[in-house]
Amino acid sequence: MTRTDGRAAPTTLPEGVVSLADHERHSAKWLDAAVQAYFNGGAADEITLRANIAAWQRIELLPRVMRRLEGGHTRVELLGRTLVHPMLVAPMAYQQLAHPQGEQATALAAATLGAGLVLSTQATTLLEDVARLVLPEPLRGPLWFQLYLLPDRDFMRELIHRVEAAGFEALVLTVDAPVQGARDRERRAGFRRAGEFSAVNLAGRRAPKPLPLQPGQSALFDDLLTHAPTWDDLGWLRSITHLPILLKGVVHPDDGREAVAHGAAGLIVSNHGGRTLDTMPATAALLPPMVQAVQGAVPVLVDGGIRRGTDVLKAVALGASAVLVGRPVLHGLANAGAVGVAHVLRLLRDELEIAMALSGCRTLADAPGALAPDGR
Ligand code: FNR
Ligand code: LAC
Repeated sequence: MTRTDGRAAPTTLPEGVVSLADHERHSAKWLDAAVQAYFNGGAADEITLRANIAAWQRIELLPRVMRRLEGGHTRVELLGRTLVHPMLVAPMAYQQLAHPQGEQATALAAATLGAGLVLSTQATTLLEDVARLVLPEPLRGPLWFQLYLLPDRDFMRELIHRVEAAGFEALVLTVDAPVQGARDRERRAGFRRAGEFSAVNLAGRRAPKPLPLQPGQSALFDDLLTHAPTWDDLGWLRSITHLPILLKGVVHPDDGREAVAHGAAGLIVSNHGGRTLDTMPATAALLPPMVQAVQGAVPVLVDGGIRRGTDVLKAVALGASAVLVGRPVLHGLANAGAVGVAHVLRLLRDELEIAMALSGCRTLADAPGALAPDGR
């Protein structure tokens, strides 16, 4: 299979790639500067992007020793299913920019490694093709579809019916990006969103006509944001689907309570990987107050800056039911297609098991005991 730059797409990894950071470094060989800026960059000064990673690193673990660990495992319960481990692939747009096999490679690797998969609305692969690859895998994780609320409601209704018919098990409504963040790195590098790869699942939708603006009106507030999701829209969405709906990008504890009151089935604490509002707190800091706010009414997941198995252990210790992994999956995909994604997920899983064993956790229910008392 050939890449758009004419090189043969890689399907094996070189020696020496043994961590997610190695995958990121190595991916620079395969991704042109503009795509690297899109994948790796964040909003504005990238303070939140860096904070996400630093915050997990700062939390300290204080191991317990000499405990019985045989029979230990990484299993967790999530929305009525038992998962072999608490990791899902985050929804990420345009994966064919990384590798010609794009979302198909990601999906196959995730399913084989028991990781969940959240398919982006802006995938470059038909949602039916992804579902067909994932559903037959006996140890697969959950298969969810991420949505942005689209102004064309008839199209949205049809899209959701397709998602249901294909066998997806939940919807993830992303609520933190009614408008793009200020993507300076992308703009500097001249990244163009529309290119040869398009969001194929959105073909045929009607773009709203631009509203006539009066002098002094804002194209953002008086046009684009008239279509942004509100709590009422969650009600509408619930009325047209039987699938559970998780909200991604809820960070204020009051919004967490509001989401539960409006029937959300779960929350994903996320700052969009530092790609939307810069200077938001790191997700490691946002997670505990959210867990506290919803009091177990719904599962709380987290993403942003998860790069090590120890990060997964810490997230679960702070009350997350599962974590989503973003950019490292794209790096693995760029480096070796499905093999690269599988390697990234395998590394995280192995590191999680090692971290559990070394901190005296037989199961993830023991994770809170691994945190150093003042280690945050
Ligand atoms: C994203 N993210 C994202 N989120 C979403 O809800 N829908 C989407 O289509 C995308 N697209 C997307 C593209 C790229 C290139 C990236 C890097 C991210 C955000 C993603 O789901 C997740 O929240 C973050 O990536 C998590 O942070 P880490 O793991 O990348 O640090
Ligand atoms: C992004 C959009 C697609 O983060 O969510 O690039």
